[in-house]
Amino acid sequence: MASLYRGLLLLLMALLPSAHGAAARARSKISAAFMFGDSTVDPGNNNDRLTEAKANFPPYGQDFPGGVATGRFSNGKVPGDMLVSRLGIKELLPPYLRNDLPLSELLTGVVFASGGSGYDPLTSIPSITKYVTCISQHSSRQTATSSTGQLELFLEYKERLRALVGEEEMTRVISKGIYFTVMGANDLANNYFTIPLRRHQYDLPSYVKFLVSSAVNFTTKLNEMGAKKIAIIGIAPIGCCPSQRALGSRECEPMRNQAANLFNSEIEKEIQRLDAEQNVRGSKFIYLDIYYNLLDLIQRPGFYGFKEVTEGCCGSTVLNAAIFIKNHPACPNAYDFIFWDIFHPTEKAYNIVVDKLFQQTMQYLM
Ligand SMILES: *[C@@H]1O[C@H](CO)[C@@H](O)[C@H](O)[C@H]1NC(C)=O
Repeated sequence: MASLYRGLLLLLMALLPSAHGAAARARSKISAAFMFGDSTVDPGNNNDRLTEAKANFPPYGQDFPGGVATGRFSNGKVPGDMLVSRLGIKELLPPYLRNDLPLSELLTGVVFASGGSGYDPLTSIPSITKYVTCISQHSSRQTATSSTGQLELFLEYKERLRALVGEEEMTRVISKGIYFTVMGANDLANNYFTIPLRRHQYDLPSYVKFLVSSAVNFTTKLNEMGAKKIAIIGIAPIGCCPSQRALGSRECEPMRNQAANLFNSEIEKEIQRLDAEQNVRGSKFIYLDIYYNLLDLIQRPGFYGFKEVTEGCCGSTVLNAAIFIKNHPACPNAYDFIFWDIFHPTEKAYNIVVDKLFQQTMQYLM
């Protein structure tokens, strides 16, 4: 019954003529947004860490207001910014680890995401360390903040808020907030397919199962910590990003895409199950698709005004990874590109995908 009702609701939302109308209505209800995940949504949490996954130098941010490289892994704004702006909360969603965060930012939401992280704790460890397997000897500052580490930061955030505004107001902010998680791409692309360690332990279907189980546990913990409106975003078609495409033909790499697809179809079922179970207790869970929404841009670039699909504006090989393109000029026409660097979409591509999410299923959480 609940799912029939939900289906009708979604249908009704899809038929609404304007997404802006819906966003305007949402404005009164959602006052804070929180984001967990990897570099696609990290606005600079890694800036003071020793990890190689950083973007706080040009050409990153060249189209950001003021042209500043804030640590966002794109030429401009990233999905968290777009989400809060469309929800009418604020213009930018800041990193939790920024030093000078005023109370107003803490009350309206922050990002705990960290470039390089994933659901698998091993994903957050730098690749070189994984090869030499002396993980425990490395300081945690040298790694990205893992999914569990991000939940620990959320706990710390709650305590900080409690100290500033009291128990009641803290509970209100937490329970009325909207939560997004974007993770899993690094687990596949930068861990399973790159480093042999996990492949010795798991075949692909069982590794995906492990990731799904980790994602469910992450989501459940977040819910137990007070989050009630939770959106889990799937894995993008990572086989189509410039660094993963085939060398000669530049075709999308099918194994990586299949793995992403498998994860997505499994996690979608799990999220629907959690939603059915927890709905009675006032919690809502939703799965948001990034796979087909981004693939549509890749398959119909002209429709969206893109001219370049396979190459990144900053280059396409591992030698064009963030640290290596430091202070090198990007392409002059980022607007023509779906991808900014070897892994991350441009601001324009992000904008289109976030628009699609608003027009499709996101209203369920409002
Ligand atoms: C998720 O939680 C369950 C129940 O506590 C546990 O058995 C399972 O191992 C966890 N999964 C992962 C991948 O840690």
